[in-house]
Amino acid sequence: MRCAGGHGFDVARQGYVSLLVGSRAPGTADTAAMVAARQEFLGRGHYAPLAVRLAEVVRGGPSGVVLDAGAGTGYYLAEAVTGRGIALDVSKHAIRRAARAHDRIGAVVADVWRPLPVRDASVDVVINVFAPRNGPEFARVLRPGGRLVVVTPTPRHLEPLVAELGLLTVDEEKDRRVTESLRGLFAETGSRTLEFPMELGPADVEAVVGMGPSAWHSDLAAIRGRIGDLVTVTASFRMSTFEPIV
Ligand SMILES: C[S@@+](CC[C@H](N)C(=O)[O-])C[C@H]1O[C@@H](n2cnc3c(N)ncnc32)[C@H](O)[C@@H]1O
Repeated sequence: MRCAGGHGFDVARQGYVSLLVGSRAPGTADTAAMVAARQEFLGRGHYAPLAVRLAEVVRGGPSGVVLDAGAGTGYYLAEAVTGRGIALDVSKHAIRRAARAHDRIGAVVADVWRPLPVRDASVDVVINVFAPRNGPEFARVLRPGGRLVVVTPTPRHLEPLVAELGLLTVDEEKDRRVTESLRGLFAETGSRTLEFPMELGPADVEAVVGMGPSAWHSDLAAIRGRIGDLVTVTASFRMSTFEPIV
């Protein structure tokens, strides 16, 4: 690939391109082990109700180009895309998988905190699922009438595992912080909670811990020893839609 300034970027043989120019990858990139755990857990369909609901919301309006900021393995984008999808993530381990998630997804290693490698007013929907948000850049890349859909976990997410295994808890102020980060740029047009039970075996529990924020802090081996047989765990998400303020 070549930019207007004459810089060249190789498309890796796994089908993605890295546009991480001049910046060091931030320390928040998911590691290979986290990405493998995520793919395993999502592959078992535990979050499928969320993927289905998100795809319905995305397809409820113009959705020719959908950009997933912090796309991970591309699981949600692959479900939602009808026209073209752009998966952005700073983890090359994640993006390698996103490149294979759907044949109409373009997969790019990029830092959401930097200017996005996407033209002004070229995207119909930005989706952002448990990943960092860059309000000004999301507003810049969206077309007039475009939408932003943000999914965050609620404080009830993964009850009772969080308490039993001492995992990181979700900030009670999360909703307020999402709105705060978009203030002056986006107006909220809808918000709903999606909650459902999941039956998780020991391998599922290990994967859900290994793919989440606790993976950075937890001693996974110690946790493994405390995981019992099948447990019923709550999945609890907040899905909010926003429109840019023009
Ligand atoms: C909790 S995962 C969610 C992934 C995906 N949205 C999903 O739900 O399956 C957070 C993702 O954000 C990515 N990420 C973290 N910091 C980032 C940044 N500054 N720019 C782009 N992606 C980032 C991580 O590499 C990781 O894939």
